[in-house]
Parts: sequence; structure tokens; C-alpha cells
Amino acid sequence: MKRRYSLVTAIVVIIAAMLITGCSAGTGGNQDGTYNFKIGHVTKESHIWHQTALKFGEELEKLSDGRMTVTVYPSSQLGLEKDMVQQLETGSIDFGFLTNGYMSTRQESLNAWFLPFVFNSLEDAVKLRESKPAKEMLAELESQGLIGLDFIFAGNRHVLLRNGHISSMKDLSGKKIRIIGSPVFQTFWDRTGAGPTAMPLSEVYTSLQTGVIDGMDIDLDALVTEKYYETAKYLTLTNHATFPAVIVMGKKSFESLSPEDQEIVKEAMKTAVDWGVKESLKREKENLDTVKKAGVKVQKLKDVSSFEEVRANVINTFSEKSPIIKEFLQEIE
Ligand code: BEZ
Repeated sequence: MKRRYSLVTAIVVIIAAMLITGCSAGTGGNQDGTYNFKIGHVTKESHIWHQTALKFGEELEKLSDGRMTVTVYPSSQLGLEKDMVQQLETGSIDFGFLTNGYMSTRQESLNAWFLPFVFNSLEDAVKLRESKPAKEMLAELESQGLIGLDFIFAGNRHVLLRNGHISSMKDLSGKKIRIIGSPVFQTFWDRTGAGPTAMPLSEVYTSLQTGVIDGMDIDLDALVTEKYYETAKYLTLTNHATFPAVIVMGKKSFESLSPEDQEIVKEAMKTAVDWGVKESLKREKENLDTVKKAGVKVQKLKDVSSFEEVRANVINTFSEKSPIIKEFLQEIE
């Protein structure tokens, strides 16, 4: 009799707990089939990655007849990217728009996007988004408890300095350049003769203001949204690399969805990213106008060939590291 009472008590406690916590049936999910997914990323609200995340939310809501919504947490509100990946693994957040910079420290093949001077423009880079090697990169992420969904671009990388343009590689000699921490970026910048310092976006504005760095390796969207042009007025257009975010969903969250809902997520993301890619191409031009209007002196890199030896070297080093990188290079060629 006593055992029967305790069983009944246990069932009552479980039901009460489920009612109080909103009947959690997955990570962002409720027992009535509604979901509010959490998305984290590092950029400001005006950045194209944030706008694409919001667009994803709109599409999701439409396709699920209002059952699925999102809350987007910008500006590293959920922590550094390494913290976000941990939260994705445990299921406490559902999606991440994670820099390819951080993700390339976790997965070799993603270094392919950063090979120096392989794309002349952002248009060239986005063509590779749906290529076979890009899809293989996304599929590889599953071994880390992540479902790779897509790539969204921030723009190509250029060199912004407090004093003067660069005309050739030798002008970088000894310059303290902020880079994003990533194997290819570190190798490339070391070999140029500059003094690269890896630091998260959140520390860059102050470091530039206080002279801890002379300049940075940056894309135009981040340059504009973070207002670095307030301190650094010399932009050399180098197009030395492109800069995507890897869009992932935690495997735990993904697997808590029905196959139909998984398809809704994929479709909504594809529509949002198609939109985001077009928008980022448009912004590449608008951002350039914005920086010029802000008084930044813009100049194209004159002597691209001065980087040739370093470029070839870095490409050789990294294409040996992953067959996907080799395949990616063949696709570009
Ligand atoms: C950066 O760290 O350089 C960066 C991060 C996110 C978007 C754009 C740039």
C-alpha cells in the first residue's frame, strides 16, 4: 500500500513540475507543439547576420502557422562563441550564427573559406555556398553535436589602419594588426611580416582607440556596424579573404523535432539565407559609401603580386590538411 502511495505521489509531482515548467518536450519546445528557439551570435543588431536570424524567425513563424518563433541574442549576450557551442551541445540554446573564425579552430575543413586571395569579390565567394565541399563542411559538424545548416556572409576582408594605406605587403611590416583567431588568418598574417594579435570583436574598438593595435583585418559590415571608422581613417581594399558565419542547430534540439518540423526549419533557414546573401551583396556597396562619407580614405591594394609567395605557401600548407579544402580549391578553379 505504502509503495502504491509513493508511486502516485511521484506521478503527481512529475505532472505538477511539467505544468510549472511549461511541459518541456525538447529544448525550446513545449508539449503543445509550440517552440520558441534561442539563437545566439556575436554581432550587433544592425549586422546582416542578426537581420538574417530575424528573417529566419519570420519564415519559421509563417511556415509553422505560428507554432515556431525565435528569440535572437546579439552582441555575445549568451557568452563567447566557445560558450555558445557548449550551450548548443547541451541544448540550452538552439541555433548559433558562429564565425567561421572560431569554428575553423574546431574543424579543419572550414579553413577553406579563409585561404588568402582566392576570391576577387564577395560575389565570387557566395557562389561557393551551395558547392559540394561547402555541404561536406556542414555535414562534418555532426561529429561535434551540431547540425550544419548554411553559411551567411559578412563581406570580404580588407585592411583598416589608423595611419596610411598599404600599397604592397612590405607596408605591413611590424604593424600591430588585430585578426580573428583562426589557423589560416594566424599563419597568413605571421608570414606577411605584420604583428598579428587575435582578439574578439568586443575588444577591438577600445584597442584601436588606445593604440594597442595599429589597425585590423576586417569586413565592411563589421567596420560600419562597429563604427571603427571613427578612429581609423585608411581603408585598403585587399579582398584577401571572405568571412562567413556557420549557421548551426544543436543536434539535441534538432532531434527533438518531428521530421516535418525539421523540414520546416531547413526550409525557413534556406529562404532566410538566400535573402541574407542578396542583402549582404547589396550592403557591400552601401557600406563602402558609408565609410567614404564618414571621411575614410579608400584605396585599392596596388601590388597584389607582392603577396604571391605567402599566398601560395598558405594555400599549400592548408590544402594538405583536409581533402575538403583541396576539393574546395578545385571548385574555385
Ligand atoms: C570579427 O571578429 O572580425 C567579426 C566577427 C563577426 C562578424 C564580422 C567580423
